[in-house]
Amino acid sequence: MAGLVACYWSTGTEPSTEGLVFALWKHGATVILPVLRDDDDLDWAVYDGPDTLAPGRHGIMEPVDTRRGVDTIRTAALVIVPALAVDPHSGVRLGRGGGSYDRALARVGPNVPTVALLHEGEMRPGLPAEPHDRPVKYAALPSGIRVVPVKEST
Ligand SMILES: Nc1ncnc2c1ncn2[C@@H]1O[C@H](COP(=O)(O)OP(=O)(O)OP(=O)(O)O)[C@@H](O)[C@H]1O
Ligand SMILES: [Mg+2]
Repeated sequence: MAGLVACYWSTGTEPSTEGLVFALWKHGATVILPVLRDDDDLDWAVYDGPDTLAPGRHGIMEPVDTRRGVDTIRTAALVIVPALAVDPHSGVRLGRGGGSYDRALARVGPNVPTVALLHEGEMRPGLPAEPHDRPVKYAALPSGIRVVPVKEST
């Protein structure tokens, strides 16, 4: 079991992360969840059970625990993020337009597994990418885990 896992609390039509967060916590992982800052960057706080969440900006549930700082994600052994779609060739994510997860993923080291949770059919080849977009290495769908091909550095 990974020590520190960065996850998120799902909202709207996103695949639900409630059971995942609860199971990780029950199995002894330390789960950090985002606390959305006023500048749309992501602070992090530790999940300590279902009774320790309260709605944050945009009504998304956030831990009421102490904010640990934007750099907390640097120490995560596993990073799980939301996406509306992922490009199967590049791992580029389509987000909700805040750039929050691009900023968070920019702080994650090259050897840490990064996973986006998708509904079936949300792998989309040819997604537009800007220089600030940060790809994920894996996408998890109901039908299984897709691995993004590693790009050979030239
Ligand atoms: N590393 C960064 N530093 C500062 N601002 C950034 C950074 N990355 C993205 N942004 C800001 O976020 C804006 C939105 O980015 P983008 O459209 O890629 O969001 P998104 O990928 O849909 O959102 P998210 O990353 O939260 O899922 C960018 O135009 C940029 O202003
Ligand atoms: Mg982006």
